[in-house]
Amino acid sequence: MRRGLLQAVMVLLVSLVFVVSSFAKPIIIKFSHVVAVDTPKGKAAEYFAKIVKERTHGKVIVKVYPNAMLYDDRAAIEALQMGAIQMACPATAKFTGWIPEIQLFDLPFLFKNSEGLHKVMDGPVGKKILNLFRRKGLLGLAYWDNGFKVLSNNKHPIVLPKDCKGLKFRIMSSRVLEAQFKALGASPQVLPFSEVYSALEQGVVDGCENPWSNLYTKKFYEVAPYTTETYHGYLGYVLVTNAKFWDSLPPKIRKILEGCVRDATAYERKLAEELAKKQRALVLKDPKVKDVVLTPAQREIWRKTLVKIYPKFYKVIGKDLIEEAIKEQQGIK
Ligand code: LMR
Repeated sequence: MRRGLLQAVMVLLVSLVFVVSSFAKPIIIKFSHVVAVDTPKGKAAEYFAKIVKERTHGKVIVKVYPNAMLYDDRAAIEALQMGAIQMACPATAKFTGWIPEIQLFDLPFLFKNSEGLHKVMDGPVGKKILNLFRRKGLLGLAYWDNGFKVLSNNKHPIVLPKDCKGLKFRIMSSRVLEAQFKALGASPQVLPFSEVYSALEQGVVDGCENPWSNLYTKKFYEVAPYTTETYHGYLGYVLVTNAKFWDSLPPKIRKILEGCVRDATAYERKLAEELAKKQRALVLKDPKVKDVVLTPAQREIWRKTLVKIYPKFYKVIGKDLIEEAIKEQQGIK
């Protein structure tokens, strides 16, 4: 009799737990970013949302807000710190005000190619930089790619650095990018990504620097059709969350999310490579676009002109960090 009662109570308890857990509210992750959906970051954010839902059986729901519909990047970082959103993926340059050392990724001609870049990013230098996020209440989860940048402007073809003289270029808020355009004799102007098209259209700026994916999806080539394949610098991202939020997640859920971050990162990087080729071809298909491909000798002139800015950043980024990044790429052609 007592055993029967105990069994009945147990069954009741188990069903109660089941009912309560099936009605428990999911954890919501608001993920804000500024680019179009059809970009490596846009697609990977959607992919991340999909696998998180599947693998947590709906216990965690990621809501993605693309195209700066919630915040531009600067506001997104502040919103993250305040807990208004839980994830973002700003370009590394956007963290300059919080983590100046991250400007390493903006240094022109620092990375020999994607192989060198990933070696630095995934090695000790990249880890050291990610570790700095905690001191700002943030947690850098992974580096996501976009790609190497091309110049585009609406005045005239650019072949050599001297052709940039007097032009106004839109930049992200990075001192390195500012110094880069000054070294070219151009005027850099900080503007949010969402304002670039209209700034080009209205003559607020004459040009900008972007990887192909952003140039194509935001149609900047329509208003800045002289493209130059300098590939002088890199644009990539840090997938970032609020440290307190992440630490407060149930350990099992956190482990699943860490796996999702790993898989979404691999997906994103592969996509970035594929889309760069595909979207370059789409931009060049437009008959208005006049593209300049540099010879190795011309590119060497750009390199020599731009690496001269490095010493200005020895203090803020760390001379040792820059030298370590160069050393890590030794042997890469
Ligand atoms: C920019 O402002 O140019 C970038 O942050 C855009 C991007 O790819 O996120």
